[in-house]
Amino acid sequence: MKNLKVPLAIENYIDNLHKRVTEAPLGRYLKDMAGAYQDAESVLVEDNPLVYRFWTFEPFPGGEGELAFGMTDLYPGLVGQEYFMTAGHFHRGSGGEIYVGVAGEGLLLLLTRDGELETRTVVKDTLVYIPSGWAHRMVNIGDETLRFTAFWPTGIEHDYASIRRDGFGYRVLKTEDGPKVVKCK
Ligand code: F6R
Ligand code: ZN
Repeated sequence: MKNLKVPLAIENYIDNLHKRVTEAPLGRYLKDMAGAYQDAESVLVEDNPLVYRFWTFEPFPGGEGELAFGMTDLYPGLVGQEYFMTAGHFHRGSGGEIYVGVAGEGLLLLLTRDGELETRTVVKDTLVYIPSGWAHRMVNIGDETLRFTAFWPTGIEHDYASIRRDGFGYRVLKTEDGPKVVKCK
């Protein structure tokens, strides 16, 4: 288990108390999330870039009050005018989360089921609390890999289907004046 290189102090989990949920980092390629972008098809004709990869760990045996944790490397890149981003999800039922920036520059989009949006800039050492009920999608608005850690309650289910079906309602575009958040029509 230890021979797979996991960045940062996530190596310090206790071997017989934690299990690696993702045996290898999970890679998300553009093709896996094409519907999230306005213009994925034109890129996919030529290439299927790796957009991000992430590791997940859970306490073993789990139980009430435990925390799962993970790390994400979100690469720099564009799909048309849109920055590389994570798929984004709600947590089903209740369950907040904490994201901490490790490197790079990101914009975190937070969305309620009623369509209310909040954004937070995430750089090294920024901590963002994601309240229960808010969907979250990270966008890499910088030129280098954005790395962040995440901590969330064990036992929650990740609801990807809602975002896949309804979208996030907003896009983050690269413009001459910097990143711009625009409402989707
Ligand atoms: C866990 C969490 C993160 C993300 C990871 C990948 O609740 O929010 O660990 O899972 O950043 O993003 P998604 O899951 O949206 O593909
Ligand atoms: Zn989450």
